[in-house]
Amino acid sequence: MTDFFLHSSRFTAACGLLMTLWIGVSSATSAADSPRTALSLDQGWRFHLGDIPLNLFPGGEGIRLYGPDIPHSGATAGHAWGAAARGFDDKSWRQVNLPHDWVVEQPFDKNAFKAQGYRPRGIAWYRRTFKLDPSDHGKNIELQFDGVATHCTVYFNGTPVHHNWCGYTSFYIDVTPMARYGEDINTIAVRVDAEDMEGWWYEGGGIYRHTWLVKRSPVHVVTDGVYANPVKGADGTWTIPAEVTLANTGSDVASASVAIGVFDSTGRRVADGRSAPLSIVPLGEAVAKVSISVASPQLWSVDQPNLYTVRTVVLRDNKPVGSVDTTCGFRTIRFDAKEGFFLNDQLLKLQGTCNHQDHAGVGVAVPDSIWEFRVRKLKEMGSNAYRTAHNPPSRELLDICDRMGMLVMDETRHFNTSPEYMKQLEWLVRRDRNHPSVIMWSLFNEEALEVNEEGMEMTRTMNALVKRLDTTRPTTGGQNKGQLGRDGKANPKNAALAVDVVGINYQVDKYDKIRAAYPDKPIISTEDTSQVMTRGEYVTDKSRQIIASYDDIFDGWSINNRNAWKAIAKQPSFGGGFIWTGFDYRGEPTPFHWPAVSSYFGCMDLCGFPKTAFYIRQALWTHDKPVLTLVPHWNWAGKEGKPIKVMALTNADRVSLFLNGKLIEEKPVDKFEMVMWDVPYAPGRLEALAKKNDTIVARYVVETTGEPVALRLTPDRKALAGDGNDALPVTVETLDKDGRPVPTANLPVEFEIIGPGAIIGLGNGDPTSHEPEKGNKRSLFNGLAQVIVQSQRGGSGNLVLRAKAEGLKPAETTISVEATPLYIH
Ligand code: GAL
Repeated sequence: MTDFFLHSSRFTAACGLLMTLWIGVSSATSAADSPRTALSLDQGWRFHLGDIPLNLFPGGEGIRLYGPDIPHSGATAGHAWGAAARGFDDKSWRQVNLPHDWVVEQPFDKNAFKAQGYRPRGIAWYRRTFKLDPSDHGKNIELQFDGVATHCTVYFNGTPVHHNWCGYTSFYIDVTPMARYGEDINTIAVRVDAEDMEGWWYEGGGIYRHTWLVKRSPVHVVTDGVYANPVKGADGTWTIPAEVTLANTGSDVASASVAIGVFDSTGRRVADGRSAPLSIVPLGEAVAKVSISVASPQLWSVDQPNLYTVRTVVLRDNKPVGSVDTTCGFRTIRFDAKEGFFLNDQLLKLQGTCNHQDHAGVGVAVPDSIWEFRVRKLKEMGSNAYRTAHNPPSRELLDICDRMGMLVMDETRHFNTSPEYMKQLEWLVRRDRNHPSVIMWSLFNEEALEVNEEGMEMTRTMNALVKRLDTTRPTTGGQNKGQLGRDGKANPKNAALAVDVVGINYQVDKYDKIRAAYPDKPIISTEDTSQVMTRGEYVTDKSRQIIASYDDIFDGWSINNRNAWKAIAKQPSFGGGFIWTGFDYRGEPTPFHWPAVSSYFGCMDLCGFPKTAFYIRQALWTHDKPVLTLVPHWNWAGKEGKPIKVMALTNADRVSLFLNGKLIEEKPVDKFEMVMWDVPYAPGRLEALAKKNDTIVARYVVETTGEPVALRLTPDRKALAGDGNDALPVTVETLDKDGRPVPTANLPVEFEIIGPGAIIGLGNGDPTSHEPEKGNKRSLFNGLAQVIVQSQRGGSGNLVLRAKAEGLKPAETTISVEATPLYIH
């Protein structure tokens, strides 16, 4: 085949020249046929908190027009008024970059909704302008919004072009006929209405995911239009049965085909193929099909997440006019009713967590690299699966799960079979069906109707839509009731009958019965545990809304970490389970309410600092190396001689505990309960030795520290890309005179940042803290705080973060910001 591939992309840049030499787009037939580019629109928005009436006359001089005097032009295309008008004066509005969540910038308010973390939401406007080069004329022009919370109306050049009600569904707006070129400026205005809630957790407000301006040839691949999911045949050979949806926004009938190249991670082409020519009428679509055999690909797995790039080149009259890169992986999945889940024919128990999508300091406007940090922490905990509870995730999170080897249960938000919501479900499957990490679709969570015929029929309808788009992954739903009838047998009318894999939320006491009632269906725990704890606290004090981190306090429907996993492990046919939750999140401060504002359920706090549950799960879920951690800390001044409960979280056989060199006791380890002692407190050194088959395999020491004398800053990485998007968390601690972190320090710290970057948020994981998450101050909570720093777009050089606190030696850390090309995809 001719070498057609010459097109810059992040992947091509990473792989050097190898990939560039297959199909070159340099021989484009006209300016309009130049390659697809997706330019980030994240920078340079104007933001106004509060509503602006639409009947405000353009120009914004405060003149409102009412009733019969309204000129009819105000209701015609291109002539919207108020902040939607092209000429509206927004110079006084604040400048913001996306992703942006305005709700996290607001103070807490006792009268605001508890589930949303006691933060007012409201209505706001965003505006941005951009220019298109005259040479762009004739191209297809699309605006893409990856996520706006919650209702929104988008205006383009004074015309309403989209209404959205789902804070988790992306939308793409073809603005080709309305675009302006040269000095004629294009205006985007977005009215965001976050008064309503879609979920019972913190949802933020604003344009909180990326935005893009896509320019491509009039004959092009529609967004999410490549379906390239490898499948393994019965004879063991691999094929990519690719389907590519092409559109033509030009004015002539086009003859087009697609060439597809499959490249390994080094950029080497391992297979290719070409479709038959298609004729696409103006403003029409057509689907090109190419089946590509790939010999002996490297498999994708959680330990070796090998990825391939599928490059789809659109050929018009045999000349390349644009290309799209899609990532895929070769792996098989199978849920078996008797044996559980198999990845590449190997039994694998899903060690999963459910997670919402907010992080300390940034709310739901989570930078991609913070997602990477979070998935890394979950992997460190031994988790291999992620449930996007209870909504579609960002595209970037799935890319990260592909790259890092994290399996995903991909969940829709709305249990609703009306055309609007079925379109949202269709979007989800089309967008996500190439990701090797995605192993199942979740159609609902704890819906009231799941128990009856209505819910069953709705599930059947949604299931059928998914199956039309993807037959390779099963469906499930998080069901906390209704699988069983009064007679203890399968309820003949309930949602579980209409999904492929029965999903059980909680109901641990019914595991055996549900198993028996659905002998032919695979089963997983879609949600369990809901254990609550406060990081770094070991004495429950309800008056201060503190829950000890001993895995022993939980509510009626829930169970502790150790028993939750024991119950799942005892069901060999279950595919695994998903803990509620991996990370704390804002809202649902169960078992408390105001002043507690965020949840206590996480194995990690809102910053990603581990709680005891993290170490318990690590011990339960790590099978290839020894792990051992002791809790609590050993700073108990005033409790001398009093018993302190000590837990060793380990996957070893036996643990010996020593205090100041003296053996307290050696104990066998129960693999679920693990091991505990009551140790009369004496300051000094508590040491544990873990043995497997009488050999010491791990050692863990915890020491009584002195008072804090200095601060320490530890960035998660040493460098940031200077793209205005890359961000990293910096851990803030205090040290005693011997350089040991002080786990009980709770004191205010102030920060200063110098160089090409900024502090975009601060947190400390205290669910009762009302300190602002923006600015440059934060208190340590039980020894820790987190500062999130982000590079400046176009920045390079040293970014210096300094921390100071009264009476302590200040700290400083330097992060190198590396000049990076613009962020495109
Ligand atoms: C579940 C629900 C979750 C969360 C959790 C708290 O029933 O699915 O969204 O509310 O309870 O325990």
